[in-house]
Amino acid sequence: MAHIMGFGGYVPEKVITNEDWANQLDTTDEWITQRTGIKRRRFVAEDETTMTMATNAAETAIKDAGLTSDDIGEIILATDTPEMMTPDTAALVQHQLKCRNIPTYDLGGSGCAGFVQALDVAKSRIATRPKNILVIGVELISRMISLKDRTTSILFGDGAGAVILGPEKARAEVLDVVSGTEGGYAEILTLAAGGTRNPFNAKSLESGDYNRLIMDGRRVFIEAVRRMTEATLEVLERIGRVKEEVALVIPHQANLRIIEAVRNKLGFDEDRFYVNVQEYGNTGSATVPFAMFEAVNNDRIEKGDLVVLTAFGSGFHWAAAAVQF
Ligand SMILES: CC(C)(COP(=O)(O)OP(=O)(O)OC[C@H]1O[C@@H](n2cnc3c(N)ncnc32)[C@H](O)[C@@H]1OP(=O)(O)O)[C@@H](O)C(=O)NCCC(=O)NCCS
Repeated sequence: MAHIMGFGGYVPEKVITNEDWANQLDTTDEWITQRTGIKRRRFVAEDETTMTMATNAAETAIKDAGLTSDDIGEIILATDTPEMMTPDTAALVQHQLKCRNIPTYDLGGSGCAGFVQALDVAKSRIATRPKNILVIGVELISRMISLKDRTTSILFGDGAGAVILGPEKARAEVLDVVSGTEGGYAEILTLAAGGTRNPFNAKSLESGDYNRLIMDGRRVFIEAVRRMTEATLEVLERIGRVKEEVALVIPHQANLRIIEAVRNKLGFDEDRFYVNVQEYGNTGSATVPFAMFEAVNNDRIEKGDLVVLTAFGSGFHWAAAAVQF
C-alpha cells in the first residue's frame, strides 16, 4: 500500500510570454498558441537552481502532509536537468531540508515521464521497506537548452512538484503504476552534450552543440499520444476499473494538441482532463506533480475521485498511475 500524504509545487516568479519570445526570435504568439497552446511559462531568477526549486516544492509537500523533515525516510528525485553531474540533486535537497542520513536517488534521463516512473519505484520501495518517501519532479530547462533555437525554446518552462508517499492510509492511494521504455527511439529526443559521447569542452562550445536539444517534433507528438493513451488504459485494466469511472486525467503538459489528441482518443470530456500548459509550458518531469498539486488546491479533485496520471518523455519512456482519492 502506498498513499499520498501531502502535495507540493513551485514555479519561479518570472513570467515569459509569447510576446517576449516574438521580440527576440523569429516567431509569433499566433504560431506558438496554434501549435502548442502555450501562452506563458516561468523562468528561474539568477539565484535559483534545480536544488532550490526542488527544495521549495518539497517543503510545501512536507508541511501539507503534517510532517517534518525528520519523518522522511528516502528521497527520489526525477530530473533531466540536475544541479551537477555528480552528486545527485536529491542529496543536495536532503541537506537543504535537514533530513536524517536517509538514502537519496536521482532518477535521470526519463525526460517528462520521470516523476510517474519515480512514483512506480517509490511504491515498490514502500512495499518492501515501509517508510515515508519524498518524490520530486523538477526541471530547470531554461538554463540547459539553447534559447536561440525557436523550434525548442518556446516549448519549455521551469518548475517543480512533489508528493510524500507513505505506507499508512492517507489522502490518496496509489493503486498501481505502469511504466515502459522503447529505447529504439532514443535518438529522436536528445540533449547529448555534457555526456560521455559528446563531452562539454571547447569543441562543443564552439559548435554550439553544448545546449542543442535535438527533437523530431512530429515523431514525438505521435508516440506521446499513443503511449499516454495506452498507458492510461493499461493501468485501468490492471486495477479492474473502466475509463468511465475516472474523474480526472492529469496528463503530461507538453502541448495542448497532444493533450487534446489523448483526450479524444479516450473519449473524455474537457472537464475530465486537467490542463495548465497554457500557463507554464512544458516543465518536463515537474508537469504532472505540479498539475496534481494545483488540481488539489483548486478543488478540481474531490474525495472519492479516481485520478489517472499519464506521462511520456525522452527515451522514449512512458508511465501511468491510478490514484484513488
Ligand atoms: C514542436 C511542434 C510544436 C512543431 O509543430 P509542427 O506542426 O510539427 O511544426 P513543424 O516542426 O513541422 O514546423 C513547421 C514550420 O514552422 C517552423 N517553426 C518551428 N518553430 C517555430 C516557431 N517557434 N515559430 C515560428 N515558426 C516555427 C518550422 O521551421 C517549419 O517551417 P518550414 O515549414 O518552413 O520548414 C510539434 O511538433 C510538437 O509539439 N511536438 C511535440 C514536442 C514535444 O512535446 N516535446 C517534448 C516531449 S515530452
